[in-house]
Amino acid sequence: MRKLVMLPGPTNVSPRVMNAMLTSIINHRGEEFHELYRKLRFGCQEVFQTKNEIVVLSASGTGGVDAAAGSIFSESDSVVVPEFGEFSSRLGDSVRYTGANVIAPKSELGKVPTVEEIDRAMKNTGKPKALCAVYNETSTGVTWRELEKLSEIAKRYDALFIVDAISVMGGDKLPVDELGIDVCIAGSQKCLAAPPGLAILSFSEKAKRAMEGKKPRTQYFDMPKYFKFAEHDETPSTPSLPLFFALSEALQIIHEEGMEKRIKRHAVCARAFYSAFERIGLHALPDEKYRSNVVIGIKYPETLDDAKFRSLLSERFGIIIAGGFGKLKGTMFRVGSMGDIDASMVSVTIECVAESLRILGYNCSPSDAVSSAWEVLKTL
Ligand SMILES: Cc1ncc(COP(=O)(O)O)c(C=O)c1O
Repeated sequence: MRKLVMLPGPTNVSPRVMNAMLTSIINHRGEEFHELYRKLRFGCQEVFQTKNEIVVLSASGTGGVDAAAGSIFSESDSVVVPEFGEFSSRLGDSVRYTGANVIAPKSELGKVPTVEEIDRAMKNTGKPKALCAVYNETSTGVTWRELEKLSEIAKRYDALFIVDAISVMGGDKLPVDELGIDVCIAGSQKCLAAPPGLAILSFSEKAKRAMEGKKPRTQYFDMPKYFKFAEHDETPSTPSLPLFFALSEALQIIHEEGMEKRIKRHAVCARAFYSAFERIGLHALPDEKYRSNVVIGIKYPETLDDAKFRSLLSERFGIIIAGGFGKLKGTMFRVGSMGDIDASMVSVTIECVAESLRILGYNCSPSDAVSSAWEVLKTL
């Protein structure tokens, strides 16, 4: 059975994008590639809303984070990395791998640390080299909607502002230049609706200056080397050409839709999910003000078995969603509402989730859930 992939990444990839990967292999040191790489970086600048330099890295999101951290930080640095879930904790780990000292203000899962706590952590750090934040914490379904304030704090301490936007770039508002983000990292397999395997990074001049005279830890992730090669529209090592073709097509689709419309589509679909699940008595893990428009994190009713529920949903209804991570394992499910998401995907997912819950003994009406979703979806 062909499955409907409703994971918080990788997500469904349209036939247009999949077909682009059938393009014949080209010389990555020839004019055809130069043109492709120029177009790709220009398309990424449009989505990131930035004039900053773009690097498209043949690596997953974690590779992108490691590349940024490894090219900027070393043992003598102190870096503030707020921790409020699995991926913000991994961001801290990427910085720790460089030998830098990590200060990690924490919050309860499903929330974010307060701006005052971040300010205090930056102050107590003395001379922090950077403030690194995850914009959309995929493990809890939380979006940190205070990037503007975080950026102001980073600027006040003359620190770099680095944002992991891997699971949200292309699905929610994120004007990189307006927010003064020095390094922003996106992943191909989430809201950009391309296959997994590419990390996309933007670097401000300040971020590039911070790398000067520093020896990166690895050859592959040496970002200044990428800047040098980009002067001739090339990458230092062989790029993943099929994925570059796919990303190029995915960016073309985004351009055709327009970012404003795309962001609205994600917001409406997310609202439909929250509204439907609430109608049948389920609750989101995050409070309303933190709720993500791209990852819907919902707590299970007390007696529900996560493994049974998700295998029923997958085997009988052909829909794949994710469970909880780490400490949240078994306590919640997560639905990715990303990329190509549309009203019918939202509606069928809600109906099948509710029906699976009902089969497992939870007292609910799938049709109530669906009609609640359509009240919202009709605004699309
Ligand atoms: C916020 C965030 N950061 C980092 C990652 C890691 O990305 P990847 O699995 O592509 O290495 C993910 C993946 O889900 C993520 O959601």
